[in-house]
Amino acid sequence: MSTLIAKMTKDISHKPVGQFEETRFEKIHNVIFEDSNVASVQVAQEIADLIRKKQALGQNCVLGLATGSSPIKVYEELVRMHKEEGLSFSNVITFNLDEYLPMDKGNMQSYYYFMHEHLFNHVDIPEENINIPDGSIPQEDVVEYCLSYEKKIKDHGGIDFQLLGIGRTGHIGFNEPGSHYNSGTRIITLDHITRVDAAPSFLGIDNVPRKAITMGIATVRSAKRIVLLGWGNNKAKIIKKTIEGEISSHVPATYLQEHNNATFVLDKGAGSELTRNKTPWLVGSCEWTEELTSKAIVWLCAKTGKSILSLTDKDYNDNGMSDLLSLEDSYDLNIKMFNKLQHTITGWPGGKPHADDSSRPERAEPAKKRVIIFSPHPDDDVISMGGTFDRLVEQGHDVHVAYQTSGNIAVSDKEALKFAEIANTITPSKESENIIEAILNKDENTFDALEVRTLKGAIRRSESYGATRYLGLDDSHVHFLNLPFYETGTIKKNNLSNADIDIVVDLINEIKPHQIFAAGDLADPHGTHKVCLDAIFEALKRLKEESFMKDCWMWLYRGAWHEWDINEIEMAVPMSPDQVLKKRYAIFCHQSQKDGVMFQGDDSREFWMRAEERNKHTAAKYKALGLADYAAIEAFVRYKMD
Ligand code: F6R
Repeated sequence: MSTLIAKMTKDISHKPVGQFEETRFEKIHNVIFEDSNVASVQVAQEIADLIRKKQALGQNCVLGLATGSSPIKVYEELVRMHKEEGLSFSNVITFNLDEYLPMDKGNMQSYYYFMHEHLFNHVDIPEENINIPDGSIPQEDVVEYCLSYEKKIKDHGGIDFQLLGIGRTGHIGFNEPGSHYNSGTRIITLDHITRVDAAPSFLGIDNVPRKAITMGIATVRSAKRIVLLGWGNNKAKIIKKTIEGEISSHVPATYLQEHNNATFVLDKGAGSELTRNKTPWLVGSCEWTEELTSKAIVWLCAKTGKSILSLTDKDYNDNGMSDLLSLEDSYDLNIKMFNKLQHTITGWPGGKPHADDSSRPERAEPAKKRVIIFSPHPDDDVISMGGTFDRLVEQGHDVHVAYQTSGNIAVSDKEALKFAEIANTITPSKESENIIEAILNKDENTFDALEVRTLKGAIRRSESYGATRYLGLDDSHVHFLNLPFYETGTIKKNNLSNADIDIVVDLINEIKPHQIFAAGDLADPHGTHKVCLDAIFEALKRLKEESFMKDCWMWLYRGAWHEWDINEIEMAVPMSPDQVLKKRYAIFCHQSQKDGVMFQGDDSREFWMRAEERNKHTAAKYKALGLADYAAIEAFVRYKMD
């Protein structure tokens, strides 16, 4: 058994004494990893160890398996172990947690398809050992079918190891809020949030089934070992509720608090709301690094409703920060923090020429910088940093924009049809007719034909030119990288390859930038933004020895959904009301992403609204901390290459 997992297992019932304070709000054993890939490999190792142990005893190993984005890397690692290390699945019997209803096995959205694609097709598990709830069962037979599924699990001696993900509703399997502690395998109505989360893979919420078959809470609880995976900031709130909250049917995963062999395996993002990470000073004594001190002061201001310079010794003492005061008094702490934040603010994101730059975020020299703004999709540049983009151009820098992916899957068929019909009206052609026909005959189980994808990519390309021209950029400074990893025609993307990295290397090498701006969604384990960022990191690694690299600084902006915490921000670029409007118009150029987009998420606001509110919100936070009152602020964190 791997040492780490052995420790994880051991810790469940006997929390080490030294950690008692740290975990005093926590009711479920959990381990937090720097990154979801490393964590997944550890979990796969525990599963492999169990399979081998059972093999040595001549026994079957009964696995309860989950689908969704969380376990993908675990399955990838198990497949690798099968291929490279000879791990055999001949003694493995699997029971999947759930399946949509109605759902055909052959449908690409089925969990049957998912499991075969990610695991079963690549290992030596006997087909008859695979059990996945059947989504094609007639309505009148469902109850009996569910009972037989439950009985089959029991007949095999119960589940030895249950792998789980967690939904933002707190569901495990598809046990949505309201599920009973003693529930067994049954039919369930999916929560709206769950359907919203599933919408991208069904290309729209209207295609997401309303029902599912799921193993029950009691079925899951009866497993001998449970490991729940949680990745990314998106899961942080529900993970905190599950681990620290009261047991309640409103958050079905809280039932796991009563299991004596359950571990939550998390990455930093998913664990970020736990009290011991978010406000460690409320849990016990901490090591007061500069980073933690900033975080605590910003938190203290929000808690007391005071600005930084108004905080008193009593405020620090009353809120678990008395040991910080023993290092420095509140006056010094306040002044230092105020100055630190003050120095993040600049209207000169490319550096202020010929000025003293000792306390500015960017260097003054060279006065005219070469800049690359990397944008994962063709609109993240203006959504996330439209104001800064505008200033960089206005202040005379040599700005280039690089759209990393074509963004073609986010264009609706309706939108594409409009353009194909217009093209066919102007110049009737076989090509346009083919596109029109392909769109009209498309069903939910077919990929877009190549020519449809090309048209959709072209739509996003001209929208992007609309925005970059509006911001005063010459077309020759706009680069469409069309990274190949993205071009699958489906939500599921390929892994990053050398072909992707070479394209990024070539561009950086050609421009030799002093500044790189990139989408820094470090905690997003599966999304396109993270892959795009990895491509840049890998490219920079390869270019490390180039002389221009020592003058190259990298600034990270956040994607459409999150903003940096105030204490993390290293450059804050304020916007006037006019600049806010200009940014709005630049976002409007991306018409295919307006008025109802394909991948809306659970936030019904349009992208320009989200961007404006987020930038307004950052400005309001600066004001509340006692700094100047701006209409809006865009925020960046500097990534130190070493
Ligand atoms: C899937 C399942 C669900 C998912 C959960 C999280 O079989 O039962 O409970 O584990 O919805 O989904 P992801 O991993 O996609 O965030």
